Amino acid sequence: MINVGLLGAGRIAGVHASAISSHPSSSLVAVSDINHKAAQSLASSYGCEVRDSEQIIADQSIHAVLIATSTNTHSELMEQATAAGKAVLCEKPVDLDLQRARECQSRIQKTGQPVMIGFNRRFDPNFAALQNALSKGEIGKAELLSITSFDPAPPPTEYIKVSGGLFKDMMIHDFDMANFIMGEVPITLIAVASSMVNPEIEKVGDVDTAVVTMQYLNGSMAVIKNSRRAAYGYDQRLEILGSDGLLQAQNVLENTIVKSTQNGVLSAKPSYFFLERYMLAYRAEWATFMDAIIQKKDIPVGMDDGVTALAMAEAAKLSFALGEPVELSKI
Ligand SMILES: NC(=O)c1ccc[n+]([C@@H]2O[C@H](COP(=O)([O-])OP(=O)(O)OC[C@H]3O[C@@H](n4cnc5c(N)ncnc54)[C@H](O)[C@@H]3O)[C@@H](O)[C@H]2O)c1
Repeated sequence: MINVGLLGAGRIAGVHASAISSHPSSSLVAVSDINHKAAQSLASSYGCEVRDSEQIIADQSIHAVLIATSTNTHSELMEQATAAGKAVLCEKPVDLDLQRARECQSRIQKTGQPVMIGFNRRFDPNFAALQNALSKGEIGKAELLSITSFDPAPPPTEYIKVSGGLFKDMMIHDFDMANFIMGEVPITLIAVASSMVNPEIEKVGDVDTAVVTMQYLNGSMAVIKNSRRAAYGYDQRLEILGSDGLLQAQNVLENTIVKSTQNGVLSAKPSYFFLERYMLAYRAEWATFMDAIIQKKDIPVGMDDGVTALAMAEAAKLSFALGEPVELSKI
């Protein structure tokens, strides 16, 4: 049995607590949060202890930690946990600051501990199937990837202030998805963005609507479209045009009912948000992490992927600020 400590007891920690507890090889032993009430509430739901993060990391009987705290704490906690001999699954992004993330990458590499970064969408069965079909050559050579990623509604501005902003907090998932699907990193990107959904978002220095276009060495392209608002729910789709055809991953709907009448054809809305849409993915992510620890399998999405996606987010921020394309190698 792998004993697990959960650092953080906020929105995403609840999802992870459920995945850890329901896996046959892991046991949730303790949870920490600087907000003691949040930790208490999560711990009582899962019958585990509340402890400080430092106590969890120092406990020799805990084999792995899942870091689901606010982004500005990730590097520090990853360094402490790996230095203490623990396997780590850390939420995205690795850090708010790229240089700090690179420093963390080099420190944790020296410990030799397995570290996985929480790009859960790679474990979504639909996206994984699309990637698998493409990698088997079913539509020939990849030429143009389109990623649509719209949230149903923006988070509170208090969250936006500490999140790192749209490129590092939200689009980072799509940068990683592009890397996963295309199997390589683009050479250049250009970003356009604005704040159209909520004026408060602009006041705290962020954008809520953005498009990034990327180009790869062989000329192929990818486009990422993000919005913090879609009136009809959480819109998560992929489309890739290849030399021999097209692959699409459509939205997962709330139900499969389709009503057809003389007025038209009506289906359900997309699953509301990430907790609903990606529940299977979070569980598969945890199961993959467990396999990596128990069966010593390779970590499929590690620190290098986390740092690469963060560099792409940094490049997008810079491109938006300059109003011109940015080469990834310069970041
Ligand atoms: N992979 C995904 O789909 C996904 C979804 C949501 C959030 N996230 C990421 O997960 C992280 C948390 O996001 P959230 O939405 O759960 O935020 P949240 O604000 O709901 O939760 C974060 C929690 O961390 C606690 N915390 C802060 N510093 C701490 C410390 N030093 N020690 C212990 N606890 C500490 C806060 O008190 C808070 O309860 C962020 O990095 C975010 O980017 C990932």
